[in-house]
Amino acid sequence: MRAGDPWLAKVAALYDSKRRDFNWRLAPDGIIHHHNGLVADRASFLRRLAKASPGGAERMIHDSETALAKLGFRYLGRPRPGASLLDAGCGRGGSSLLLAGRHPGLTVRGVTLSGYQASAARSAARARGLSGRVRFSKASMLDLPFGRGSFDLVWACESTEHVPDLPAFFLETARVARPGARLVVIAWTRNSAHRLGRRYAALADKAYVTRIHSGEEYLKGAAGSGWRLRLTRDLTGPTAAYWAARAALKSASGTESFMAPAFAGRALLYILYSYELQR
Ligand SMILES: C[S@@+](CC[C@H](N)C(=O)[O-])C[C@H]1O[C@@H](n2cnc3c(N)ncnc32)[C@H](O)[C@@H]1O
Repeated sequence: MRAGDPWLAKVAALYDSKRRDFNWRLAPDGIIHHHNGLVADRASFLRRLAKASPGGAERMIHDSETALAKLGFRYLGRPRPGASLLDAGCGRGGSSLLLAGRHPGLTVRGVTLSGYQASAARSAARARGLSGRVRFSKASMLDLPFGRGSFDLVWACESTEHVPDLPAFFLETARVARPGARLVVIAWTRNSAHRLGRRYAALADKAYVTRIHSGEEYLKGAAGSGWRLRLTRDLTGPTAAYWAARAALKSASGTESFMAPAFAGRALLYILYSYELQR
């Protein structure tokens, strides 16, 4: 799938249009996430949220999203000095900036289909003094502007949902990764054993321009690419609590009405997949 493909253009248009949006409003620290959060103790979180000021409530949601990113980073392992990371579907650069801030030796390249996002992420990197090590481009992760074996680590947080052809994603990221590289994918995943899985996936697909895949597709899709699955981690419970909390926000985006029950009932699952490149 190359630039100009109508599906990619539709995804790009979605993110080009999201500017002063829900995710932007939640991020007073300039680290803009476009992914779910994790809430460990649902009852106590909802109690505290109900008592918080509007700004305080949004901060709690934002912090739960940062918690997801930090948990996911653990599965990348400790980067060796001088390591390089590809942020595949980088949004406005939230994960890239957090990772570069934590690991002074790490270089990061982020790609997004949205020209606006790439430029916003570049400004955020400049503002943090990170533009020497962290660069963002408008490019497709299915046709990457990088040579073979360029990366030690690949991070794909809530981006593969937008890729109709998962095997193409695995093949292309394997091409640019070095043997032994780690890939962490975090994804909304359709529960193929749930009778409402297809229904909720269709609602999300319509709202977010996605093609949500089943868990089996994340396993089979990597076959033959060189990526070998190391482990999976099911984060559905803590993310269902996050969606329930979002539904209580005055500034809720509207999709909570189906995303909260989808995760709460496990029709959609929130899964972290960790792979290693074996060639
Ligand atoms: C839900 S956002 C996630 C952003 C970021 N990973 C995060 O966790 O905040 C999805 C991102 O994937 C990107 N994306 C989707 N398909 C892509 C593709 N084929 N190539 C590059 N980026 C893609 C979108 O442009 C957007 O930045």
